Amino acid sequence: MNRGIAVFSGNANRPFAEAVCRHLEMPLGGCDVFEFSNENIFVSFSENIRERDVFLVQPVVSPVNTRLMELLIMIDAAKRASAGRITAVIPYYAYGRSDKKDQPRVPISARLIANFLEVAGADRVLTVDLHAGQIQGFFNIPLDELTAYPLFAEYFRSSGLERPVVVATDVGGAKSAAKMANRLGSDLAIVDKRRTDNSEQATGSRVIGDVRDRECIVIDDEILTGGTVAVAARLLRERGARSVHLACIHPLFTQGAVELLDAADVEELVFTDSVPVPEGTFRRVSTRVISIAPLIGDAIHRIHTGESVGALFS
Ligand code: R5P
Repeated sequence: MNRGIAVFSGNANRPFAEAVCRHLEMPLGGCDVFEFSNENIFVSFSENIRERDVFLVQPVVSPVNTRLMELLIMIDAAKRASAGRITAVIPYYAYGRSDKKDQPRVPISARLIANFLEVAGADRVLTVDLHAGQIQGFFNIPLDELTAYPLFAEYFRSSGLERPVVVATDVGGAKSAAKMANRLGSDLAIVDKRRTDNSEQATGSRVIGDVRDRECIVIDDEILTGGTVAVAARLLRERGARSVHLACIHPLFTQGAVELLDAADVEELVFTDSVPVPEGTFRRVSTRVISIAPLIGDAIHRIHTGESVGALFS
């Protein structure tokens, strides 16, 4: 193996893959990914990839099942074209919330997706902030999980907040929020959020930690309906927070999220470009995008040259 890197994109977020390639100072490879009239997806690489180190960039975002299928078929096509090594680059890994059997007769879909990727022929996976770190264990191939939390810490450090408090939106997110608080040298608070069923309704009523007159950074791994962070923002205001800054790694913004967040009493909404969000989506709330394209580009370079990926975070 090794006639150099080749990077290709599915249809999920081509501008993102182009940004990764700009960082790598190389062109995005030619690959047609389209559907026939019977909705069958077809893939055709327009250049020779025999023995190349191939990276297929595809966040699994709406329409989720189509984008997933595109990625699987791209992997199959690359394998049959004799690629030397195939890495699925998945900035957002869907189905991550289905990572355990916590009710009777339910699937573990995150594991199923891992199986699909392996069976299709992926040799490695490169992803960013999985919903739960243990999803790594669903793979029998090497997986590099990057994290964008340090980029958020850097952003908020430079934005001049006074004695900020990092707020986790539930107990599950406390560990990641604590790491960010450590990087910022700030305090940690936790919202006691609970879900009682499979509806997407989050409830929260308590804040653990002191937020009165403090600048609060609410950080979550993903925002779907916006309910979780909106509830957190309201609770923090009720408890006397001086300012509320919302941040998330993966901005899915599903139904109603845009209206809800536009109406929230917050200073700003910060998110990465792991999921495409068209410009002008929000009218009222001030938004800030932190690009993870350079981080992914650096990781691709290191995977290719056999350097440490972990060193990116030390
Ligand atoms: C939950 O465990 C996650 O960390 C997020 O809090 C959740 O996915 C956000 O969903 P929503 O925006 O619909 O409340």
